[in-house]
Amino acid sequence: MTNDTADPGKRKLIKMSAGLLAGAALASPAAVLAGNAPMKVLLVNGSPNEKGCTYTGLMEIDQTLRKEGIATELFQIGRKPISGCVACYECRKTKSGRCVIADRVNECLEAAEKADGFIFGTPVHFAAAGGAITSFMDRLFFSARDEALYLKPAAAIVSARRGGTTSAFDQLNKYFTIREMPVISSRYWNMIHGRKPEDVKKDVEGLQTLRILARNMAWFLRCKAAGAQAGVALPEKENPLRTDFIRS
Ligand SMILES: Cc1cc2nc3c(=O)[nH]c(=O)nc-3n(C[C@H](O)[C@H](O)[C@H](O)COP(=O)(O)O)c2cc1C
Repeated sequence: MTNDTADPGKRKLIKMSAGLLAGAALASPAAVLAGNAPMKVLLVNGSPNEKGCTYTGLMEIDQTLRKEGIATELFQIGRKPISGCVACYECRKTKSGRCVIADRVNECLEAAEKADGFIFGTPVHFAAAGGAITSFMDRLFFSARDEALYLKPAAAIVSARRGGTTSAFDQLNKYFTIREMPVISSRYWNMIHGRKPEDVKKDVEGLQTLRILARNMAWFLRCKAAGAQAGVALPEKENPLRTDFIRS
């Protein structure tokens, strides 16, 4: 036993980081590295079209991740109306990790707790992310428990007929960076073009961008698992300081 692991405080920290880094509910880093327990990426389709353009892009990522030995789970936000956040702050008071509005958001929160990484896809609507996925992500990212998202890698992909891709892409990336999630990048901004899935299949550059993104995600996940196994501790935490820009 090394000096590090002889210290009970450090042992606890290492155990915690190993669990969190590998996805607490899933598997030990050793099992992950041995290939006995694949890590899982949650693919969220934020389009009302179940098998449309955004889905087509997500499937390119799905296939690439599977080739890399990473499991995937597809989550469709669907077509039922999704309420925006009603700003009741109930999730913050109870720390339940769930939204008071019982719908697909809570189902996704449950899936998120078991996932190791995330890809959120959206169609571009009026040069922004779609209204439903925006409401969905507002509530998901506001009510999620820390362990559902903290230090789990994430990326956004956007699908447009023609314009508004980079503004929608910027919009989604902001959810990740407020929850301490490493943002995985590709060789271009993660966008595909088309009105129908057949169009997307012709966007060879867009699809290549998504395959590169998926391989970078897989590499990052393996590095995390290896780091956890080697005993790399989580960063020191600080209590939030909220100034709200109010001055007396
Ligand atoms: C309400 C609405 C607004 C749209 N706004 C844009 C837009 O601003 N720019 C654009 O290029 N395409 C726009 N589109 C087209 C879609 O973004 C595009 O076809 C996308 O690939 C559809 O993805 P999906 O099949 O996953 O829903 C819009 C479509 C709808 C329904």
